[in-house]
Amino acid sequence: MDRSALNDMTYGLFVLGAMDGARPVGCVVNTVVQLTSEPVTVGVSVNHNNYTNECIKKTGLFSVSILSEEVPMETIAAFGFQSGRNTDKFAGMKSRMKQPGVPVLSENICGTLVCRVVESMELSTHTLFIAEVMDAERAKVPLPPLTYAYYLKVKNGTVPKNAPTYIPSEKKEHYDCSVCGFRYDDGEGPLEFLPAGWTCPRCGSPKDAMEKGT
Ligand SMILES: Cc1cc2nc3c(=O)[nH]c(=O)nc-3n(C[C@H](O)[C@H](O)[C@H](O)COP(=O)(O)O)c2cc1C
Repeated sequence: MDRSALNDMTYGLFVLGAMDGARPVGCVVNTVVQLTSEPVTVGVSVNHNNYTNECIKKTGLFSVSILSEEVPMETIAAFGFQSGRNTDKFAGMKSRMKQPGVPVLSENICGTLVCRVVESMELSTHTLFIAEVMDAERAKVPLPPLTYAYYLKVKNGTVPKNAPTYIPSEKKEHYDCSVCGFRYDDGEGPLEFLPAGWTCPRCGSPKDAMEKGT
């Protein structure tokens, strides 16, 4: 099988939003697709390890913020490379709540959807959520939607291993701790996306001690 054939498949990029009690949570996905027109349903594939997955299962509700090309890489880093289990991703983001209670981004987006899960299927690593779209709203100022290809080629973005489209053979970079030799794999996300206070999990050295491996 030539897995590179899959590289030519096209996708958009989105932030899924959900609620963890009273706290908004969410993650970046590229797998939202419209499945039917009457009623309007969408599908999305969310990794079993993503905190957003747990929260969607509890409430049966999620939102989709359709990202535009202008979205800063910091937003992708916040929503796509760290977990809402231990961070408040919506803190510092311009966002608002939509009825019946899901958070959406309010800038650098083309529009939003409010979705109610009608079915789900457990796949090997991901849950496929099938959801009815209860509400859809377009941004007042039209912006170009961010495609997966634009994210990879123009914004030089990378994809963590929880994304269904992650390609193991494309892992290009790793970093070695200059103090203890611990290897940080880029599959976990680029080192520069980790919080400033990140330390080597083995010896506790600061991020500066990591050196790019060859
Ligand atoms: C470009 C990109 C695409 C992604 N696509 C998906 C996806 O379709 N499904 C998924 O489960 N995770 C996807 N991810 C990974 C999640 O956003 C990431 O694992 C996130 O940290 C999960 O956060 P959470 O634990 O707060 O839910 C993607 C990440 C990026 C950067």
